[in-house]
Amino acid sequence: MNKANLSVFASGKGSNLLAIHKASLDSDFPGQLKIVICNKFCPAFELAKSLNYETKLISNLDIKNFEIIVHKELIKQKVDLICLAGFLRVLSPEFVSKWNNKILNIHPSILPLFPGLKTHEKILSSGSKIHGSTVHIVNEKLDSGKILGQFAFAVKSNNLDLLIDNIKKYENLLYPEVIK
Ligand code: GRF
Repeated sequence: MNKANLSVFASGKGSNLLAIHKASLDSDFPGQLKIVICNKFCPAFELAKSLNYETKLISNLDIKNFEIIVHKELIKQKVDLICLAGFLRVLSPEFVSKWNNKILNIHPSILPLFPGLKTHEKILSSGSKIHGSTVHIVNEKLDSGKILGQFAFAVKSNNLDLLIDNIKKYENLLYPEVIK
């Protein structure tokens, strides 16, 4: 099978990175992970290193210079698809248009509800009884590109940590499926 070259951008725990890695071990998965980009030292960075992926930690740079370096790395690795997985930087419209329709993001809300940060806190304070997550194409506006996949589940407790753990279990199944 001719596989697409993937890059994961991450700044957090790396559960979605791990899910994509595990999915890619399956011979039927149409992508192979080529490079992981992190903008800060984080568990996802350590995970990528421990899995022996080409990994770049690029911190303390303004977005323009960050993107110049990242773009070169992506070209070098012949990347076809970028998967943002808990990546805490907003990419510039220039970068997004260079990689038009080739950047996915996973956002922890049922978009178009609750774009932006702190979605779990917003769900809890809204009193909503459902929560979920969305994989979408990244466009120049925050969390508003075409929706490719979603799930929803019942909110049964007000415990923030439980909610986050719960959502990630579903996300870790959804993201590889959407990439496929
Ligand atoms: C996920 O909940 C994702 O929806 C959000 O950031 C979190 C990243 O989690 N964008 P992880 O680092 O993949 O565990």
